[in-house]
Amino acid sequence: MTQAELVVVANRLPVDRDDAGGWRTSPGGLVTALEPVMRRTQGAWVGWPGQAELHLEEFDFEGTHLVPVTLSAEDVELYYEGFSNDTIWPLYHDVIAAPRYRREWWNAYVAVNSRFADAAAAAAAPGATVWVQDYQLQLVPKMVRELRPDVTIGYFHHIPFPAYGLFSQLPWRRQVLEGLLGADVIGFQRTGDAGNFARAVHRQLRYETRASGIRIPQDDGSVRIALAKAFPISIDASAYVRMAQRPDIQARARQIRDELGNPEKILLGVDRLDYTKGIRHRMKAFGELLRDDRLSVERATLVQVASPSRERVAAYMQLRDEIELTVGRINGTYDTMEHTAIRYLHQAFPREEMVALYLAADVMLVTALRDGMNLVAKEYIASRLDNRGVLVLSEFTGAADELGSAIRINPHDIEGLKDAIMQAVDMPPAEQGRRMRKLRRRVQEHDVEAWSQAFLAALHDAHRANAS
Ligand code: G6P
Repeated sequence: MTQAELVVVANRLPVDRDDAGGWRTSPGGLVTALEPVMRRTQGAWVGWPGQAELHLEEFDFEGTHLVPVTLSAEDVELYYEGFSNDTIWPLYHDVIAAPRYRREWWNAYVAVNSRFADAAAAAAAPGATVWVQDYQLQLVPKMVRELRPDVTIGYFHHIPFPAYGLFSQLPWRRQVLEGLLGADVIGFQRTGDAGNFARAVHRQLRYETRASGIRIPQDDGSVRIALAKAFPISIDASAYVRMAQRPDIQARARQIRDELGNPEKILLGVDRLDYTKGIRHRMKAFGELLRDDRLSVERATLVQVASPSRERVAAYMQLRDEIELTVGRINGTYDTMEHTAIRYLHQAFPREEMVALYLAADVMLVTALRDGMNLVAKEYIASRLDNRGVLVLSEFTGAADELGSAIRINPHDIEGLKDAIMQAVDMPPAEQGRRMRKLRRRVQEHDVEAWSQAFLAALHDAHRANAS
C-alpha cells in the first residue's frame, strides 16, 4: 500500500463506475473543484466508486492514487440515501424538504464514517495532511484524529451550514459538532455558514469561540484551537477558457442554436435534478411570461439540463414528476412546429457539451432556493470570452456573495424573477459587457487553485500553532 502526503477523503471517488464497467467523472461540483489540486500534488483519494457491492483494489487514475471504499446495498440505502441525503441534505438546505430523523440511518452513518476514517488513516504517510470533504463524512475528522494524532486534518463543507434554530433539530447534533471539531480547520463557503457553525458549537458545547478559532479543552488541561472560516470554492477557470476557445466547441454552440430554430434568445438552466435548485420556480416564471405575452417561443427558448440525481430518494422522485408535468404543460400550450418553449434534458453531459451550451446561452438562470456555492454560475462566466451574456443569480447561493454584478433575484418572488428575466433578455450589449467583465475578473482571479492554496495554507498555519 502506498502512503501519500495529501489524502482527500470524499464520499465519491473522482470517477464513477458506469454500468458497462468503464469510468466516468462523478456528478456534482466537489469533484470538479478538487481535480486540479490532486493533479498537482499526486495525492491519494479515498472514496466510494458510486455503485453498491463493488470490491475494488487501489489503483492509479490520471495521476491520483484512488482508494475505493466498498458500500453494501444496505450502506447505500441507510448511510447515503438515508442519513446523508434524506436527513442532512434537507436539514442543511433550510428544510426546503422535510428531513427525516431515523436512528437506523444514524447508526449506519457512524459505521460508514468509521470505515472511511480507517481507509484514510491507512493511506496517510507520517505527518501527512488529510483533507475530508463534505456532509457525508462529518464524523471522519474526529475519527482520524483518534487513529492518527500525527496528521494534520482539514474539513471542507461544500453545502450550507444552517442557523442554529434549524440545526438544533438534529437528534445527534452534539456528535456531529464534535466530529467536525476533530479538524484543525473547518472550511465553509460563506462567512454566514462559519458563523452558524461557531454559534452551534457555542450553544451546544459551550466552547469559547473567538475570531482566532474555537478553543477546545483537552483532557490534559491544554487547549486545542480549531479554525472555522469561509473559503469560497471556485472552478478551474482557465480550463473553461481553453474549452471556450476551441473551434469545434464554438461550432457546436452555433449548431445548438440552429437546432433550436434560432430563437432570438436562449435561456439556460443547468442543475442536478434537486429540490434545492429552484427549477420549478424558474419554469413557473418562464411559463407566466409566455402566458402574459411578455415573451414568445420565437423570442426565447429555455434549455433546462437536469442531470439525474439520487433517484431512489422519494423527494427526488416526486420532484421529477412535478417538473416533467410542468414541462409537458408549458410545451403543450406554447410550442409551435418550429419552436419549443422548454427543451428539457434529463441527462448528464460531458464538459465540452456544457461549454457549448454556455456559449450558446444569452441568459443563464441560477434560481436556487439554497446552494452552498453553485459552480455552474462560475462556469458560465468563465466561458463567456466575448464578455456577453447575462447571469441571473439567486441571492441564496454562496456565489451571490462574490458575484455582485449579476442580476440578483429572490426565487420565491415570482414577479421579481419575471422582471429579472425580462431585464436579462432586454439588456443592451454595452451593459452586458460592463457586468460580464467584472464577473470574469473575479472568477479568473479567484479560481480553484487560489481556493485550495488558501485552505491548505490556513491548515498548515493552524496545525503549526497547535503544535507549538
Ligand atoms: C453536491 C454535494 C457533493 C455531491 C454532489 C453530487 O455537490 O456537495 O458532495 O457529491 O452534490 O451528489 P451525489 O449524491 O450524486 O454524490
